[in-house]
Amino acid sequence: ASTLGAQAAQSGRYFGAAVAAGKLGDTTYAGILNREFNMVTPENEMKWDTIERSRGSFNFAPADQIANHATSRGQRLRGHTLVWHSQLPSWVSSIGDATTLRSVMKNHITTTMAHYKGKIYAWDVVNEAFADGGGGQHRPSVFQNLLGDGFIEEAFRTARSADPAAKLCYNDYNIEDWNAAKTQGVYRMVRDFKARGVPIDCVGFQAHFGSGGPPTSFQTTLSSFAALGVDVQITELDIAQAPAAAYTNTTRACMNVPRCTGITVWGIRDSDSWRAGEKPLLFDNNGNKKAAYNATLTAL
Ligand code: XIL
Repeated sequence: ASTLGAQAAQSGRYFGAAVAAGKLGDTTYAGILNREFNMVTPENEMKWDTIERSRGSFNFAPADQIANHATSRGQRLRGHTLVWHSQLPSWVSSIGDATTLRSVMKNHITTTMAHYKGKIYAWDVVNEAFADGGGGQHRPSVFQNLLGDGFIEEAFRTARSADPAAKLCYNDYNIEDWNAAKTQGVYRMVRDFKARGVPIDCVGFQAHFGSGGPPTSFQTTLSSFAALGVDVQITELDIAQAPAAAYTNTTRACMNVPRCTGITVWGIRDSDSWRAGEKPLLFDNNGNKKAAYNATLTAL
């Protein structure tokens, strides 16, 4: 096939992009989006500081713009993200007691998921809960500090009740290297969830790579998680300088793992990237395909 989405679909996978609502009116941007991608992740519009900037007041308008664009074109949606320490309004991070926070967290999950019920392929229920380095522990956050380790499980249980049809994912960065303590911490959590029947369906590997691309163990990491009984996805791919070989290696790692169900790049053109200075994406600032694009299409 001649596009990323159509080629990925030949093996039952998807190829997605992070999308910004404010760029949908840019015809170059929308043209590439509509031609190449069959999964869409709102880059910022479903984060807590947009959806519930003040307590109990929900603003779905920016995310709805993206959702409507996607669903009217047959593109699927990833929900990103319900519980995250970042882009979190200060009214949440300054809550001082567990009872209030628990009720606020559950209401945020339930209300948001109810709004998009039936329209979401997978939700990143919890994002980036693990600390870098160290011994595979959770990072400090208001959720961790007040609710303890169990906040992740509470979030997933709440999410399952809110939209039983959506796949529920844990999403993180720097968990691509099988030998990293952070990877092992997440792996132990997923193993424990599966053993105890805590609902979890997928693990998202952000894959924000340096110019060397994925660690050599990346495919082992994907297949090891998949062996626990979850799908795995590459959810926020970008690679400094976008070397073709690094995109090839990343794409092959997913293609070689049957339960790796799709790849999402974190933006369309280099100029759309949160790492724009590193030119990490598949299209240049003018919307032209780069060598990394051809390498990815060939590897799919
Ligand atoms: C980034 C967005 O791309 C930026 O526009 C925003 O300013 C900050 O967040 N991990 C995630 C994403 O899960 O939500 C982040 O997206 C990148 C790192």
